[in-house]
Amino acid sequence: MRYAHIVGWGRYLPERVVTNDELSHLVDTTDEWIHQRTGIRSRHIAAPHETTATLAFEAAARALAVADLHPSQVELIIVATSTPGHMFPSTACLVQDYLGAGRAGAFDLSAACSGFVYALQMASQSIATGAVRNAVVIGAETMSRVIDWSDRGTCVLFGDGAGAVVLKGSSVPGGVLSTTLRSDGSGGDLLSLPALYHNPVPIAGAEFAHNGHHKNIVDMDGRQVYRFATNVIASSIQDVLKMGEMALEDVALIIPHQANVRIIETAAKKLKLPLEKFYLNVERTGNTSAASIPIALCEAVEEGRLKPDDNVIFVGFGGGLTWGASLLKWDVTPPQVSFIDHEWKRVRYVMARGRSRLRRLQRRVEAAVARPPNGHKPDES
Ligand code: UT7
Repeated sequence: MRYAHIVGWGRYLPERVVTNDELSHLVDTTDEWIHQRTGIRSRHIAAPHETTATLAFEAAARALAVADLHPSQVELIIVATSTPGHMFPSTACLVQDYLGAGRAGAFDLSAACSGFVYALQMASQSIATGAVRNAVVIGAETMSRVIDWSDRGTCVLFGDGAGAVVLKGSSVPGGVLSTTLRSDGSGGDLLSLPALYHNPVPIAGAEFAHNGHHKNIVDMDGRQVYRFATNVIASSIQDVLKMGEMALEDVALIIPHQANVRIIETAAKKLKLPLEKFYLNVERTGNTSAASIPIALCEAVEEGRLKPDDNVIFVGFGGGLTWGASLLKWDVTPPQVSFIDHEWKRVRYVMARGRSRLRRLQRRVEAAVARPPNGHKPDES
């Protein structure tokens, strides 16, 4: 039996911080309203040159440094995201290229704010079956690119960022112990982000079938999502504990998807738990969707909130509707990664980009050489 242990973690938050006061110049809102209803004070917003893939890469590079794993040894990369730059190439493939992870399979996973919990389960099961020995699981979002900045009901809620973990297989019991994943597509309209299908089909009888939305921006029924969230947080935690044959008292920390402090407070009351049992950083990050749990995990570790042998629960909920929870045994003491060590390791990523450019050039040269002379079909020569 193989167990998937978290052996590395990393996060990346863009430099630019946008406060509630700044938003009050954009839409009719106030710091007081936002903080009272959500607990959010500020969020990070990606710079124009940053993409979901570059955010994901930064988080993954940091996680690999903590795990002391060379990118060439990585076997699987999963990026949970709702804001990929492209449907293909996937964000995970771009990260694979930036890392120079030449032996890794890579794909994106779409389960909105529950994406990280889903991706963790896919990766840990791949490790448990022996299909791969390790995996990098990333949650990364540029929510700022899919927000209607004139809609005060949504633009105050979200932020950008990325978090990553490295999972490694071991015969030592621990790591990811149990996971529950659930969905209910009948609630899909409560929280949605349409994809862009804007090419009309110029063929009779194959009319452009669009879904009624004209922009790819987040649309949300806040009250309904609120109700859904408070119910499923409590039920997922109870389900995953039952699967793992544990009790709430055995759990040191719960790291929920960071959407709204009030949602977490209500869930805590339902479970008769003190709010301190939940790690919260939404005040500084806003809702970073699939990135929120791994970002919060990194901060919890930095703040010493997790010690070896602690049991920890990740719980996610969001669009789809989707929800789920993972129960893990935390079994690592954070290694000291010095600044110099970290910077030195980054040289390998500069080299990876160089190799990637060379491969592209090589493909172009090969294609040019293989191209037949003008007007000649290959079988005519
Ligand atoms: O990852 C999961 C993603 N989504 C969520 O977790 C969201 C879940 N829902 C929520 O967190 C809450 O529903 C919100 C924070 C989005 C809204 O809080 P609420 O207490 O449910 O407010 P509401 O939507 O019922 O709106 C109350 C009032 C409305 O005004 P009227 O109609 O009563 O005059 C809104 O127009 O607040 C108004 N409002 C605002 N006022 C100032 C809505 N947004 C704002 C705003 N600033 N930003």
